[in-house]
Amino acid sequence: MQTEYLSPTPDGIAAAATLLQNGKVVAIPTETVYGLAADALDPDAVTAIFAAKGRPMDNPLIVHIADIDDWPPLVKSIPDKAKKLAEAFWPGPLTIILPAANRIPLQTRGGLETVAVRFPADPIAQAVILHTGRPLAAPSANRSGAPSPTNATRVKEDMDGRIAAVLDGGESHVGVESTVIDMAHEPPRLLRPGGVTPEMIENVIGPIEIDPAVTHAMKTGDVAASPGMKYKHYAPKAQVYLVKGTAEQYIAYVNSHADKGVAALCFDEDAAFLQVISVSYGHRNDALEQAHRVFDALRQLDEQGATTVYAASPCPKGVGLAVYNRMIRAAAFRVINTIRVIGLTGPTGAGKSSVAALWSKAGIPVIDADAVAREVVQNDPECIRALTEVFTPSILNADGRPDRVALAKAAFATPQATEALNKITHPIITEKICRQLEDFADAGFPLAILDAPLLFESGTDRLCDEIVAVTAPVDVRLDRIKQRDGLDTERAMQRIHAQPSDEFYNRPHVNRLINDAQTLEQFEQKAAALLAEKGWL
Ligand code: TXA
Ligand code: MG
Repeated sequence: MQTEYLSPTPDGIAAAATLLQNGKVVAIPTETVYGLAADALDPDAVTAIFAAKGRPMDNPLIVHIADIDDWPPLVKSIPDKAKKLAEAFWPGPLTIILPAANRIPLQTRGGLETVAVRFPADPIAQAVILHTGRPLAAPSANRSGAPSPTNATRVKEDMDGRIAAVLDGGESHVGVESTVIDMAHEPPRLLRPGGVTPEMIENVIGPIEIDPAVTHAMKTGDVAASPGMKYKHYAPKAQVYLVKGTAEQYIAYVNSHADKGVAALCFDEDAAFLQVISVSYGHRNDALEQAHRVFDALRQLDEQGATTVYAASPCPKGVGLAVYNRMIRAAAFRVINTIRVIGLTGPTGAGKSSVAALWSKAGIPVIDADAVAREVVQNDPECIRALTEVFTPSILNADGRPDRVALAKAAFATPQATEALNKITHPIITEKICRQLEDFADAGFPLAILDAPLLFESGTDRLCDEIVAVTAPVDVRLDRIKQRDGLDTERAMQRIHAQPSDEFYNRPHVNRLINDAQTLEQFEQKAAALLAEKGWL
C-alpha cells in the first residue's frame, strides 16, 4: 500500500475525510498523540486498524467525536457525573467509558459491553471528524507495543505502507494519551492517567478510584479493567530500568553502571554529569514538559543504539502520574530504588523505638515493620486466603479477618507451623515495605529507616544498606519492660528470655548502639551522634 502524506489544509482535510468515508485508515493529529483513525461504526474499517497496528482484537478502541450531540447515540445513557466531566474537560484529553449502544460494532469495543468516547481539542482532528460525518475510532498511531507517536515523522516510521494516509499536523501538544475514566463503575475508576489529572476530576465529581494497574504490575490471575493494561507497552528495543532516588543518587548509579550499550533517559539538569550517552526528557520538576517529550525520547534511545537504559523516575503526582505510568510500562515494571535504607533492630526494651522516634523527628521517614505485618495479616486478601488454607477457617473472625489470638495459637503451636506462617507472610510484608520505600524515594527522601525487631529473622536485612542494632544490659531492659508494660519481674524476664541474646547482633557490618547510659537524654545524645557521624542527616 502506498501511504499518502497530507498537509492540514482544507484540501488535505477533505482528502483525509474522503478516505475515511471509504473505509480507509488515516493517521490524524490530536492534542495528545497521533491517532490511527477509521469509521468507528464500520466493522471492516475498524478491523483494518487492528491489522495496521498489529493490535490484539480484544483491546478496544476510543471513539472520537467533534460535537457533543454525537455522544448520546453511542452510549446507553449518560449519568450526571459523566455529563459534568464532559462539560468541564471536553474538548480535551479525557476519555469517558459508559455502557455501549448496540450500534457500536463489537470490533470497536473489543467485545466489551462498554465504549470509550473522547472529544479531542485539536482543531485539525475536529475538522476531520466533522468532514467525515462519522465518529472515528482511533488508537495511538504506533505499532502495538511501541511508544506512541507525537509527530508525523514518528507515525511514518511505524506505519508507512500500512495505512492509506498520514495527515501532518505538527507536534502533539500534550504528548501522552488521554486520561481514561470508567464511568460505568461506581465510584468512577481511573484506568489511565493523562493530561486531565485525578485532582482535576475529583474537583468536579468528588472521589474516584485509581486502578492499581496504573502504577503497579498486575498479578497473574488479575483481570484487567482496561484490556490495554495487560499488554507490553511504550517499549523501545532497549531494556529500560526505572531508577528511583535523588538526582545525586541517580547520577551516581548510572555512572557506576556505565557499561557498553548503557544510556540514560534523564532530566535536563542531570545530562552534564552523566558518563554515558543520554537523552533528556524535560526538567525534573516540569511534568508537562516531561509528558510532551517522553515518547520521542524513548524513540531517540533506539536511534542511539542503546541496549540498556537507566531512566530517571518522574514524580508520580499530577500530570507526572501520566508520565510515570508510561515510563513504568516502558520499563516493564523493572524498578531500581537507590534510596539508602537504614535497618534498625534490637530486642524488646532496649530503646529501639526511642531511636526511631528521635530520627523520625530529625526528618528521616520510618517504616514500622511490625505495623506493616499487622496490616498484611489483617487486611491483605492474598495473605488471608493463604493463611486460611494452611490453618483452616477456624482462625477467622465472623468478619472474615484472622483472629489474632486464634492465629497465634495455631501458628506458634509447632516450629513447622511457625515456618508455614512466615513463608506466607514474609514475602508479602517485604513487598509492602519495598512499596513504601519506593513512595519515599518518589517523595524525594534520600534515605529511610526500616524499624524491624525481626530484621534478620524476616530476611528484610537484605533490603538495608546499613544496620543499627540497639541493645542494652539485661537490668536496663528489665526496668524498661516492667515500667512500659506493667509486668512483674518474672513475666518481664520471660519476655527477655524469649528474645535473641546480645551476641545475636554481633555481626559484621552491624553498627551497635548500646543503651547503658544513665539517662534517656544521654542515650539520645548517643543516637544523635551516630546520625551525625554517619552523615545520615
Ligand atoms: O489520547 C488518546 O486517547 C489517543 C488519541 C489518538 O485519541 N488514543 C489512544 O488510544 O490512546 P489507544 O487505543 O492507544 O488506548 C486506548 C486505551 C487502551 O488501553 C484500551 O484498552 C482502553 O483505552 N479502552 C478503550 N475502550 C475501553 C473500554 N470500553 N473499557 C476499558 N478500557 C478501554
Ligand atoms: Mg496506545
